[in-house]
This record gives sequence, C-alpha cells and structure tokens, in this order.
Amino acid sequence: MKFRQCSMLIPLVLAAVFSFSWAASPHQNFLHCLSLRSNDSSSFSKLIFTPTNPSYESVLDSTVRNLRFNSTDTPKPLVIVTPAKISHFQATIYCARKHGLQTRTRSGGHDYEGLSFVAKVPFVVIDLVNYRSVDVDVENRVAWVQAGAIFGELYYRIAEKSRTLAFAGGVFHTIGVGGHISGGGFGLLFRKYGTAGDNVIDAKFIDVNGRVLDRKSMGEDLFWAIRGGGGGSFGIVLAWKLCLVSVPAIVTEFSVSRTLEQNATELVHRWQSIAHNFPDGMYPTVALRSINSTQDGRKTVVASFGSVFLGTIDELLPLMQERFPELGLSRKDCNEMSWIESILSETGISNKPLEILLNRTFKSPIDNPYYKIKSDYVKQPISKTGLDGLFSRLTDEAAASTTIVFFAYGGIMDRIPEDATPFPHRAGNLYKIFYNIGWLEENKASSETHLDWARRTYSYMAPYVSKSPREAYINYRDVDIGSNNIGYTSYEEASVWGLKYFKKNFDRLVHVKTWIDPENFFKHEQSIPPLY
Ligand SMILES: Cc1cc2nc3c(=O)[nH]c(=O)nc-3n(C[C@H](O)[C@H](O)[C@H](O)COP(=O)(O)OP(=O)(O)OC[C@H]3O[C@@H](n4cnc5c(N)ncnc54)[C@H](O)[C@@H]3O)c2cc1C
Ligand SMILES: *[C@@H]1O[C@H](CO)[C@@H](O)[C@H](O)[C@H]1NC(C)=O
Ligand SMILES: *[C@@H]1O[C@H](CO)[C@@H](O)[C@H](O)[C@H]1NC(C)=O
Ligand SMILES: *[C@@H]1O[C@H](CO)[C@@H](O)[C@H](O)[C@H]1NC(C)=O
Ligand SMILES: *[C@@H]1O[C@H](CO)[C@@H](O)[C@H](O)[C@H]1NC(C)=O
Ligand SMILES: *[C@@H]1O[C@H](CO)[C@@H](O)[C@H](O)[C@H]1NC(C)=O
Repeated sequence: MKFRQCSMLIPLVLAAVFSFSWAASPHQNFLHCLSLRSNDSSSFSKLIFTPTNPSYESVLDSTVRNLRFNSTDTPKPLVIVTPAKISHFQATIYCARKHGLQTRTRSGGHDYEGLSFVAKVPFVVIDLVNYRSVDVDVENRVAWVQAGAIFGELYYRIAEKSRTLAFAGGVFHTIGVGGHISGGGFGLLFRKYGTAGDNVIDAKFIDVNGRVLDRKSMGEDLFWAIRGGGGGSFGIVLAWKLCLVSVPAIVTEFSVSRTLEQNATELVHRWQSIAHNFPDGMYPTVALRSINSTQDGRKTVVASFGSVFLGTIDELLPLMQERFPELGLSRKDCNEMSWIESILSETGISNKPLEILLNRTFKSPIDNPYYKIKSDYVKQPISKTGLDGLFSRLTDEAAASTTIVFFAYGGIMDRIPEDATPFPHRAGNLYKIFYNIGWLEENKASSETHLDWARRTYSYMAPYVSKSPREAYINYRDVDIGSNNIGYTSYEEASVWGLKYFKKNFDRLVHVKTWIDPENFFKHEQSIPPLY
C-alpha cells in the first residue's frame, strides 16, 4: 500500500511546487484547481459552496434527516460541490485526488450513519442535487434516472404517465436513488420483483480517472458490483436505467393492531412461520412498539400487522381468512387505492396531493428526529419466550420512541440466486428485522441511554437470528458491526462487516474494487477495501 501511495505522490509533488505560490491550504488549492479545470468556471463556481458562502449551511442541511448528524461537533465538509454536468464531476474527482482530499458522494443523504456527508478527515461533499433528471419511457417500460433524483421524483414521473407501472424501489419517497440502489434496496414490490438493484439494466458511472462508463464499457463484474455492493466504494453512479414493472390499478392496504392483552404474542409467533409463504403480491410486515394501556395506563406492546396487497379487498379477504384466520382481518381494516397512493400512505401521509412526492426535504410524520438503526435476518421462528423478552425490552423507558419492524421475505427473494447481485439475503430467510431506535431530544446522556438500549437489545437477539455470519443489510448501515476511521483498512478488518453485509459476495466485491480503484480513492468507514 505504501508503494502505491508513493507512485501516486509523483504528480502531487509537482502540484505542490506549483501551488505554493497560490495558497497554503489543500482546500484552497482544490478550489483553484477546480477553476482551472472547468471551461465554464463562472457557472461552475455557483455550484461550489465553502463555509463562508451564505448558502453553505442550507445546502449541507438540505438532506440531513437524523439530527444526530446536525450537532455542533459533527465534522463539516471543507467544500460542497453540486455538479450539473459530467465535466464538473471529472474536475472534482481530479482536483480532490490531486490535493489529497477525501470525497463523499451524496444523493438522497439518507445514509443511517451519515457517511455521505460526515467524515473524520478533511473532505469534500459531492452532492448530486443538480443531477436528477428522470426520463420515463412507458412504451418500452424503462426509465433513465440520474442518481441525484429521489424516489418520489421517479414514482411521480412514472405515475404521471401510467398508474399501472411502477418501480421496485424503497418506500420512503425522499430516499435517493443513488445510494439506495447501490445497496440493493427493497420496497413494497420486493417479494414480487426483487430488490431495486435486481431491476437495473444499464448504468452510467464515473471512475477515479474520470472515465464515464456504461454497462458495456464497464463490463459485467463492475456492473454486478454497483447493484448492491454499497455506495461510495467504486466510483460515482451518474444514472441508472431501470426496468419498470406492472402493478394493478387497485391495490389494498391494511393494518390490524393487537396488544399483548389481545394475544399479540401468539399472533406474532404464528406470523413468523406463515408470512414468507403469503403470495408474492403481498408485503407483510409487523410493526412493534410500546404504548400506555388504555385500561390501566401500564405499558404494553402493540403489534401492527399490515401489508400492501396487489389486488382488491374482495381478493384479499378470503386469502387472509384461509392463511391467517387468527388475525380476524375484516373489510373495515382495509383501504383500496392506487399503487402510487400506497407509497404516500405507507409513510403516514394519506389524502394529500401527489406533488408531496417531489418535496425533497419532506419529513414524514413517522420519522423520529434522532435515531439509530440495526438489522437482523431470521431463519427459524423465534420462540414465544424469545419474543416475550424482546417485548419486555420494548416497554423500557429508553424505548418509548422505538419501533421494531419485521419484514417477511419469501416470494421471488427465494428464487433469485445469492450471487445474482451482491445483495445476498435471499432463500432461507423468514423475515428481516429493522430496529429503529428513536428519541426526541439530544444530549449526551439521553443519546447514550438509547444507544446502549440498542446494543443490549441487539445482543439479546443473538441466539434467535442468523449466525456465522450474523447477517445485516448494507442500506441499514450500522458502524457498530465494524468500521475503520477513513477507509484505510485491511481485508481481514473489512471482512468482519463485509461478510455480514455480503456473505460470499464480499470477495468478488474486493476483486472488483482492486481493479477499478486500486488506490482506494473512494472510501469511507465501511467501504470495500482493495487488496494490496
Ligand atoms: C427515512 C428513511 C427510510 C428508508 N426506507 C428504506 C426502505 O424502504 N427500503 C430500503 O431498502 N432502505 C430504506 N432506507 C435506507 C436507504 O435505502 C439507505 O439509507 C440508502 O443508502 C439511501 O440512499 P441515499 O442516496 O438517500 O443516501 P446517501 O446518504 O446519499 O448515500 C448512501 C451511501 O451511498 C453512497 N452514494 C450516494 N450516492 C451515490 C452515487 N451516486 N454513486 C455511488 N455512491 C453513492 C454514499 O456515499 C453513501 O455511502 C431508508 C432510510 C431512511 C433515512
Ligand atoms: C467544455 O468541456 C466539455 C467536456 O470536456 C466539452 O464537451 C465542451 O465542448 C467544452 N466547452 C467549451 C466551451 O470548450
Ligand atoms: C441544524 O442545526 C442548525 C444550527 O443549529 C439549524 O439552524 C438547522 O435548522 C438544523 N437543521 C435541521 C435539519 O434541523
Ligand atoms: C386469545 O387466545 C385465547 C386462546 O388461544 C382465546 O381464548 C382468546 O379469546 C383470545 N383473546 C383475544 C382477545 O383474541
Ligand atoms: C405513558 O405514560 C408515561 C408515564 O405514566 C407518560 O410519561 C407518557 O407521557 C405516556 N405516554 C403517552 C404516549 O401517553
Ligand atoms: C416540504 O416539506 C417540508 C417538511 O415536511 C415542509 O416544511 C415544506 O414546506 C415542504 N415544501 C414544499 C415546497 O411544499
């Protein structure tokens, strides 16, 4: 590794001699380099923000969702660049390399550990907010989407042209297509059509040398890696070509809640072994949280069983009566709507204009201001005793704003091979657990209490979930499972989290990384390391 760095130093030394006469700090040299590299420097300069620029704060804040990453001690970028064309990306990569600055790429900014806009070393944020056109071709059922678009923009543009076409991407409409698809990505349609990454048919990508590649010129190894190997490791995805899928004109959403006193434990226990066999056109979930009992004010747990179903109420009711009669689903628990309306409804927004989908800064009413996320995969039903232990933890004061969601697997996820894309969590999983540990106000003591609860609960769950490795979902990024400071890491260190996120696919990702970015320019706390 030393040797490779030295070979990179040759141009750097020349650059240093050249730039001494200009300025002292790396970021001033970087800015100067940008102005030299771009042939439209006056319009490009309006897309570059330093802390002295009055818009710097608002540009930086625009996609910060989790206030954990908006504290006074959160490290801030030296420069934010918001490229509008390919030459801007090329100049930014070239100049950051030349002046030894780390970059972080940000599309929707939803990274659960803030890795797209927080780094512990001097860094530049490349924010794709100005690179987000969406081009939907209904006839051929494809769309080209630039990586800075959010899913709301994509879904809205599809719905404008057809209510029976959709894309198999994430639920929350403010998620960026850049980061989400890079990590696999699942949403309402994943049991029928697979992950978002499974539905990509071409891409535009820029590498560390500024080369713009498409599927053909990048080759199948890199094209495989970028559709699930996690963002921020290989280069910058500029755009995806997506395969659109059919949805019926009417879908049905339901939700049924039961407390512990109403047999929630029995129902959750049963759900675990049947939900993965529900039809592919369902998205079965159970959301668990604590509430004050209306009877005695004591804390209890409520389990909300829900799904969006690709069909009508009349089709759904007999199906649920046959598969899960204990739930007692009835017509009054169900609502029919279009698929695009279910996207809003699933995030707690009903009967609002679809234009909300275009609002990049929209905060869903079900978002907590502060949160920590963890994930698990379950392959055997958890015993009632095991569930009881989880439920009793949920009634702890520290978990008052916490929600734990089980997402049923099965469907097409059982039929896509583990190595089809880097996303390896396929056959054999009953469901995934999403731990959303939330809290309302931040001070050192309160955040420690909640983070501690998160870690204790995660360790309590160990016997009940996947083992060796204990699998985790890359898009639910969690640095507790292993990380390094700035991406200078060995294969052995990285394989700790790499195997959890990617299982056997990790080695192929390392191979691709070594080939496309051998000097490890694109890196962060959980990026794929090259082999030296
Ligand atoms: C409110 C909320 C709801 C969510 N719901 C879901 C859900 O329903 N399903 C699901 O699967 N996940 C969900 N997630 C997780 C989400 O998929 C991931 O956080 C995803 O990485 C976000 O993508 P982004 O572009 O918004 O994030 P960013 O923070 O911009 O990026 C995430 C990572 O990808 C890198 N990256 C970003 N853009 C690019 C690019 N163009 N090229 C290369 N690398 C890039 C970043 O550097 C970073 O490492 C949710 C997250 C939040 C906060
Ligand atoms: C600027 O550079 C881009 C990309 O290198 C090139 O396509 C374009 O023609 C150039 N424009 C001018 C005015 O030189
Ligand atoms: C982040 O903090 C700044 C300074 O305290 C504040 O002005 C801003 O509104 C905060 N951003 C968000 C998204 O809350
Ligand atoms: C809970 O289950 C028991 C036995 O399985 C049953 O007798 C009882 O009626 C159920 N209670 C509710 C509220 O459904
Ligand atoms: C539940 O009860 C606790 C303690 O009695 C109280 O502090 C809290 O505000 C209540 N929560 C809700 C949502 O009513
Ligand atoms: C977008 O959503 C935010 C937060 O939910 C809201 O404050 C803002 O007014 C909305 N913007 C527009 C243009 O509607």
